[in-house]
Amino acid sequence: MAYAAPKLLKLFSFTDSPDFTLDDLFEAEKAGKIPNFTGRRKSSWTLPQIGAIGEQFGFLAKPQKPVVITSFITKGGVLKSTLVLNLARMAALHNIKTCVVGLDMQGDITAALGCQQDLENASDLHEALTQLSAIRGLPEVMFQKSSPLDLIVETDIPQLSLIPETPELVALEQSLTLKIRREFWLKENVIEPLKQEFDLIVLDASPNWNQLITNALAASDLLLSPLECKINNFRNLKMFQSFIAEFKHDLQLQFDHFYIPTRFSEQRKLSREIFDWYQSHLDNCSSIPIRESVAGEEASALNQSIPEYSPSSPVALEMNSILKMIWNRPVFRMAEGQKSKMLSEGGSYGAFVE
Ligand SMILES: Nc1ncnc2c1ncn2[C@@H]1O[C@H](COP(=O)(O)OP(=O)(O)OP(=O)(O)O)[C@@H](O)[C@H]1O
Ligand SMILES: [Mg+2]
Repeated sequence: MAYAAPKLLKLFSFTDSPDFTLDDLFEAEKAGKIPNFTGRRKSSWTLPQIGAIGEQFGFLAKPQKPVVITSFITKGGVLKSTLVLNLARMAALHNIKTCVVGLDMQGDITAALGCQQDLENASDLHEALTQLSAIRGLPEVMFQKSSPLDLIVETDIPQLSLIPETPELVALEQSLTLKIRREFWLKENVIEPLKQEFDLIVLDASPNWNQLITNALAASDLLLSPLECKINNFRNLKMFQSFIAEFKHDLQLQFDHFYIPTRFSEQRKLSREIFDWYQSHLDNCSSIPIRESVAGEEASALNQSIPEYSPSSPVALEMNSILKMIWNRPVFRMAEGQKSKMLSEGGSYGAFVE
């Protein structure tokens, strides 16, 4: 896909800023500070070129040390995987080396990152099955002693990789229950090796609490929890908060936690009231919601982030603002030395109330 200069300006939310204009972008191209136009359309770039531009002029900085993020809450269909897709694609478009690890047997993020796209185009069942069996996932680390680095699948963005979900995740989850130090298997065997290669590791969780989730949380620096602006989320939230607090306490974990209101509908009074309630009762909640939107749904259907698909839509500008807020969490600004010092002193990443 070609990215024309005006679209790129919007992708990185420069339309907000009078400090960076179309002329600045053209000048940078002419001066060789960013890749030359090679897109098929006039004054445009191809997708693999965008990272070098995002790195220089975008709004997401490479973290000082690798950061691990999990998207999880005990509620289905609240945009957990959508958040992973947006965060991971936008980070990669800033040249941040990103690996998504799928932990949901439904396989939504694996499909969204295009891992199974070729299967649909296979000429017959035999070819499709051969291709399918070639997809290897995390269970190989447990059962075949493979390195997680050997399981990585590339995507359409050069800086974005994936460890795909496979049906054998069920067996992995089961066998984790029998392990000693079972909550730390993922951290020690998967995440630590990935940190050698990646700046950002994003875990997509299923909505139900299981061993893969506890492993994801034990390996994470930051938990992102999408909170639907809907009434049935209220009861669930209370339960979830106490679960997380207890789990953190029992395992002595220190991860940061940030809630993101989702499926916000400005026209509906109840939705507005629920959003306001989140704002006044949670001090670790995004002040900007992801709104219920057709552009959001269409972006997901095309496996793109919202800013890529519809960069001038309100939902895209809001998504970029949410990403900026996530990048403002302490873990992105903290060097490894500070992090371990803080942990050894029994501190947490900030004054967050569970
Ligand atoms: N801004 C949006 N507004 C409305 N719908 C959206 C928006 N963004 C994405 N969607 C749609 O919501 C659907 C569900 O989102 P998603 O798969 O991210 O939820 P989830 O929490 O990961 O679900 P699950 O619990 O099944 O894993 C997506 O398939 C997409 O079609
Ligand atoms: Mg999901």
